[in-house]
Amino acid sequence: MSLTLHSLSAASFILLCLLTLTACNNTENKWTDGQLKIIESLSIAGVQNPPNDPSNQYSHSTGASAFGQQIFFDKRFSSNGKLSCASCHQPQKAFTDGLSLSKGINETGRNTQSLIGSAYQRWFYWDGRKDSLWSQALVPFESANEMASSRVHVLRVIGKDSELRNQYEILFGDFPISVLDESIAENAGPWGDTETRDNWYRIPVDMQRKINRAYANVGKAIAAYETTIPVPKTKFDEYVQVLLEQGEQKASKLFTDEEKAGLNLFIDQEKSHCLRCHNGPLLSNSEFHNIGTGTFTGANLDFGRFLGIQAVVQDEFNCMGEYSDADAKDCHALRFLPRQIHNDMQGAYKTPSLRYLNKTGPYFHDGRFTSLEQVMEHYLKPPTPDSETPELVFTETEKRQLIAFLETLGYINSL
Ligand code: HEC
Ligand code: HEC
Repeated sequence: MSLTLHSLSAASFILLCLLTLTACNNTENKWTDGQLKIIESLSIAGVQNPPNDPSNQYSHSTGASAFGQQIFFDKRFSSNGKLSCASCHQPQKAFTDGLSLSKGINETGRNTQSLIGSAYQRWFYWDGRKDSLWSQALVPFESANEMASSRVHVLRVIGKDSELRNQYEILFGDFPISVLDESIAENAGPWGDTETRDNWYRIPVDMQRKINRAYANVGKAIAAYETTIPVPKTKFDEYVQVLLEQGEQKASKLFTDEEKAGLNLFIDQEKSHCLRCHNGPLLSNSEFHNIGTGTFTGANLDFGRFLGIQAVVQDEFNCMGEYSDADAKDCHALRFLPRQIHNDMQGAYKTPSLRYLNKTGPYFHDGRFTSLEQVMEHYLKPPTPDSETPELVFTETEKRQLIAFLETLGYINSL
């Protein structure tokens, strides 16, 4: 084609468009209807109210949320009195901590996940070893590397604080006061050091169950608070809104050519494949995938979902357990989870959201990368044999464009 666009009359331009639809799109750089549908599916407009969790009757209770919020930020529940959930999940860092590997009492083996959008998830943790927000919330208190406390200590803090105890009783009924009895050791729980575990198994089983129920209630209140954490708007969402409501010309003022080219690459399923796993308004399918990041040798073994499946099935606080509010028939995710050991789940991790990446780094389950350039380099390396990602080929320019697009999903305070 030797003619430039400028020299074409409008009529012959339209004719040319009709004859060569794709060429027309490229020269004019207009989104097709198909592309617009995909772009819309990624925008914040698709974020509904968080779904009900049948295993937690308090998941949408404002009273429970207010109670849970206090616990989330209260350091008295840790063994050294210096750590709360918010120490690692800091609101101003999109509920992460900025570290490669999170650190509580000791360094843990994983990178802190953001809590923005967690109420929309089906499985929790990088390996999905929990099936509800409330059962997840029971872990950090007792985890040796995180808060190194115990369920008896957690309940004692509440029981001895008249304000918290009052709120507990309004929400859940009687507080199990026997937990305050001096005959029960303060550090007693099934996950602590030997002494903590011994103390736990000295408690009569019916008392243990009362403690577990009250402890589950605490988790349910924390989950209610996490369910209220908003999913903020980004520059990308603003672009999509203007694009759909006022058209391409107005929208083009909000996105640079580089950002637009990056979006084009991101949604190009033939070229980038990103959408296969990073889709929907959170840019995550909430499922587990192997992108060649598992560690199967050395000191820091990490098998990912492979062990997560076994853990969630055995968890006494899962959706089908005694402390759940759900009918077993409503525990769809757990019921239909294939029970057999899946070798292909070795090294699979939960697809993270791509929202707010400017606040959630370092990246990947072990925080191995501090920049999006490094993440892109990972995807451009020849895939490992077990990886689900295909061989990808990008020019330097395309790589920069894709990163520019990812940056439009960053957290901003001013919109
Ligand atoms: C020492 C730092 C630390 C503390 C304290 C901590 N967390 Fe976390 N949190 C993490 C890390 C690290 C992960 C990922 C761990 C993994 O996958 O094994 C995580 C994961 C989560 C997830 C899963 C999110 C998802 O999308 O799957 C939730 C929810 C969560 N934490 C809530 C809490 C709550 C509630 C508390 C307090 C009771 C808490 N965390 C205390 C570090 C911490
Ligand atoms: C087969 C599924 C799959 C595909 C395809 C895929 N990803 Fe991912 N992505 C993941 C998983 C799983 C992780 C987490 C891996 C881990 O933690 O070890 C991840 C992590 C990331 C992260 C780090 C986020 C964080 O918070 O740690 C970024 C950024 C990212 N992907 C961008 C992309 C881009 C851009 C593309 C397309 C070029 C893409 N991904 C294609 C599944 C996928």
